[in-house]
Amino acid sequence: MNIGIIGAGYVGMTTSVAFAKYGHTVFVIDHDQDKINQLNQSILPFYEEGIENLLNELVKEGKLFFITNLEECIDQCDILFITVGTPSSKEGVANLSFVEAAAKEIASRIKTDQVIMMKSTVPVGTSRKIKEMIRKEVEKRTEDISFELVSNPEFLREGKALFDALYPERIVVGCETEKARRKMEELYKDFNSPILFTTLEDAEMIKYAANSFLATKISFMNELARLCDKVGANINQVAKGMGMDSRIGPQFLQAGIGFGGSCFPKDIKALLALANVEEAPLHILQAVSNVNQTQVNWFMEKMEQQLSGLSKKRIAILGLTFKPETDDIREASSLKVIDFLLRRNASIIAFDPKGIEHVKKIYPSIHYTSNPYEALKGAEAVLLVTEWKEIVEVDWESAKDIVAQPFIFDGRNALDPATMENLGYRYVGIGIGN
Ligand code: UDX
Repeated sequence: MNIGIIGAGYVGMTTSVAFAKYGHTVFVIDHDQDKINQLNQSILPFYEEGIENLLNELVKEGKLFFITNLEECIDQCDILFITVGTPSSKEGVANLSFVEAAAKEIASRIKTDQVIMMKSTVPVGTSRKIKEMIRKEVEKRTEDISFELVSNPEFLREGKALFDALYPERIVVGCETEKARRKMEELYKDFNSPILFTTLEDAEMIKYAANSFLATKISFMNELARLCDKVGANINQVAKGMGMDSRIGPQFLQAGIGFGGSCFPKDIKALLALANVEEAPLHILQAVSNVNQTQVNWFMEKMEQQLSGLSKKRIAILGLTFKPETDDIREASSLKVIDFLLRRNASIIAFDPKGIEHVKKIYPSIHYTSNPYEALKGAEAVLLVTEWKEIVEVDWESAKDIVAQPFIFDGRNALDPATMENLGYRYVGIGIGN
């Protein structure tokens, strides 16, 4: 099939390479000429393992094209994806202006029997409204045009996005006609993944519900970790014991210094805002958000107490991105950590394999280093914020000789407490009773 993908962001690009890899011809459309120029040289505007190489191959094979104008490819497309951003407004409501602009552009050029796919994460009810909006625009035209609108949310994890796009655990398709359903089966026939067909609203809600539920598991564990600390229990062992129950499962029970990223915080805010408007409050989700908002402070206060104050202390922050294997710092816990330390007048040196350039734009005055040992030199305390391999696998034995004080605060419970203590460190984790 020929596919047009509007929006060359993270989701758009990952989706594009996956469809092209499965043999479809993909046109990526973005108004940003610089971005398109870069993509034409196989340069991605973000870091994600494996995508740049595959993109290069697919361009050479003539499966992937980058253009700035929908008009150039619309005649050839069977399916048009909307993959533009839906950032949070101040009130947490999803900003739909990019989605609406893309829909307008499609409406003015759409040909009969084309399918429009909503892949951007949009509040429940949006796809139907957008469909109505396009229908009204299309009616202004003289030709008789029939089109379909399908909701097809994405479930990509950053750092593993290519794998998730190529081998999805499930494909959720909200569609309303048999004709659209058959097209979807054809589109996804080589993916070998189960397809769940639903209504537009169900598909939209599944996306928010899945992310909210995963975040609920994390906040539950993070809150429980605070209690574990008080009563001398170890949250890691508790998670292990809970996860062995197949009804609970072992994933997303890892306590830490809070979740971040481009999805969980934004999607939770948007779902809470929708619940508010609909006067159907989501008390559990509100608590999930509250726990996450206070998690960094809880750990930092513990650090402050154990170090008897932070003023003028040299603190090494290890890890800035919201999780390993990405350069994304959106809603990263490291930003709240830096804020806290700056308020306490601490001296900061930060290491991260991929995130430094982005954080530097927000905090130009702190020190950065691309070598973890440089950060550890003279540190009076080490704070692990992101469990990058490069950080977990530091040679902690020799590192002990370069730190000023062997004091480590592990915000991801990524290191083994007994090993660290045997090496002579004072180790403080999340919810392990110390
Ligand atoms: C998430 C969803 O997993 C994905 O399906 C959706 O499409 C987008 O949002 P992502 O944001 O890339 O993906 O990261 P994820 O691996 O889910 O982690 C999110 C945050 O939760 C990270 O900050 C991570 O450190 C934290 N986390 C995750 C925990 O604190 N504990 C865990 O057990 C798991």
